[in-house]
Amino acid sequence: MSGLTIVTSSAQMSDIVARWKSQGESVAFVPTMGSLHEGHGALIQRATELADRVVVSIFVNPLQFGKGEDFDSYPRDREADEAFVRNSAVDVLFMPSVDEVYPSGQETTVSAGPVGERFEGASRPGHFDGVLTVVKRLFAIVSPDFALFGRKDAQQLFLVESMVRSEGSPITIVPIDTVRAPDGLALSSRNTNLSADERARARVIPEALNEAEATPTLSAALAAVRQRLHATPGVVIDYVAGVDPDTYRELDEGSLASEATLILAVRVGNTRLIDNRRLHFPQ
Ligand code: PAJ
Repeated sequence: MSGLTIVTSSAQMSDIVARWKSQGESVAFVPTMGSLHEGHGALIQRATELADRVVVSIFVNPLQFGKGEDFDSYPRDREADEAFVRNSAVDVLFMPSVDEVYPSGQETTVSAGPVGERFEGASRPGHFDGVLTVVKRLFAIVSPDFALFGRKDAQQLFLVESMVRSEGSPITIVPIDTVRAPDGLALSSRNTNLSADERARARVIPEALNEAEATPTLSAALAAVRQRLHATPGVVIDYVAGVDPDTYRELDEGSLASEATLILAVRVGNTRLIDNRRLHFPQ
């Protein structure tokens, strides 16, 4: 039987965690925007292994959507999400309203700094300020020992880790590998927006990344990925780049670095998809 409690009030959420902590229990936190899939499931599974108590939040954060982005049409399915969470050993599903997360007068915006303006941030100005602002606020409400984030959103993970480090926060950030569909496409809530035809075309993304793994240098990897994506009608490149995994700075195309994260964003029809692959090059 599921012992799940659904909480919508921030004060109640904080009280529950305070009670657990007074009993010496550890807390793991999985922040999400809902429309849950097995990618979120992997984070939740790891959370249940790491800590005595698990909190999952579902909050579609208006601050991280730009004008003209898909805030209104972002997939929301409360019933399916509740059922998904009930199937795992989650203690609290935290589903606050916008007012509970951002009570007026308490909205100090976090700046993601220069890394927040590159790549996803260049295409989506203000996006990472919005992400870090909500993550900081949710961390303050939940005060977890562990917080789990997916490697699929590599730049988000990097920025959350940087924020926690610079604040000297006691929260341990736990990265989780990308969960993929059988054909290799990274699971994403936005995949539901793809038509069958677009979904088939999107398979070129993992195929291109697999090809990059077999190349000897970053420039060969970038060329291979761009070539595969360009050759697929209906797939439009937003960016394809190599970054230093430790700094998220873009590497020169001719860089002979032994490690790089190849990151990409494409549009397939009206749907924007991101993916990445950590690459190791023989020296
Ligand atoms: P959302 O897109 O719902 O993702 C919630 C978490 O699940 C993120 O850490 C994301 O990286 C992870 N995730 C998504 N798809 C995944 C996959 N296929 N494999 C592994 N992990 C995956 O990311 C957000 O929400 C928001 O920006 C949030 C952090 C909640 C702040 O609003």
